[in-house]
Amino acid sequence: MTNLLETERLLIRSWIPESDAEQAFAIYSDPEVTHFLGKSSRVTSIESQRQRLIEGIERMHQRNNGTGAWAIVEKESTTIVGTILLKQLPDKDGLPTQDYEVGWHLRRASWGKGYATEAGRVMLNYGFSVLNLPVIYAVVKPENHASIRVTERLGMKPIGRTNKYYGIELLLFQLDAPEEWRENRKAVLE
Ligand SMILES: CC(C)(COP(=O)(O)OP(=O)(O)OC[C@H]1O[C@@H](n2cnc3c(N)ncnc32)[C@H](O)[C@@H]1OP(=O)(O)O)[C@@H](O)C(=O)NCCC(=O)NCCS
Repeated sequence: MTNLLETERLLIRSWIPESDAEQAFAIYSDPEVTHFLGKSSRVTSIESQRQRLIEGIERMHQRNNGTGAWAIVEKESTTIVGTILLKQLPDKDGLPTQDYEVGWHLRRASWGKGYATEAGRVMLNYGFSVLNLPVIYAVVKPENHASIRVTERLGMKPIGRTNKYYGIELLLFQLDAPEEWRENRKAVLE
């Protein structure tokens, strides 16, 4: 299994449904983790968790545009500590828009260590430098203060409330590609 990305403490790699389902289930069966993620994110068995991982990988293959959801692995323990995602935001009907979001879900035992920020930072860099995105968003429920703090640590700009995505009202945060991105793009277009 090749890693998509690596940071000081973490590896970002594809999910392996056969061997990861149990660890993923430990994350997504925890009501504290799914509290702000919507009811459908809660999983009730290891087998349905495995099925979700399989479907997620199938969707990544179909889109084939470098976006998706990956496992975050703690290097020191080789434990899966969460999910990091970079994908197109869905509109109110669930159809993909042209806007891309970064997102993070960590198992409870790994909160408070800076892992969401560390994984989020490397994912944003990937979105700008590999996928060539000019802007990346994050959407957060207004009461999800831990996630709002992650967007702040990542230097994302609060834009206000929006109803454009997921059919609910969410806070929107934006990060523009760094200056070098714009310079490279200008050079390509000239
Ligand atoms: C949102 C969520 C990922 C945030 O996790 P988190 O652990 O608070 O976020 P980080 O990984 O950035 O950790 C930051 C904390 O670790 C601490 N920390 C420890 N070592 C650190 C380091 N080396 N670098 C940065 N922060 C560090 C920070 O001080 C900070 O604590 P604080 O909140 O008291 O200031 C987590 O609450 C979660 O998974 N929630 C459930 C799923 C969810 O709601 N996802 C978001 C949907 S929008």
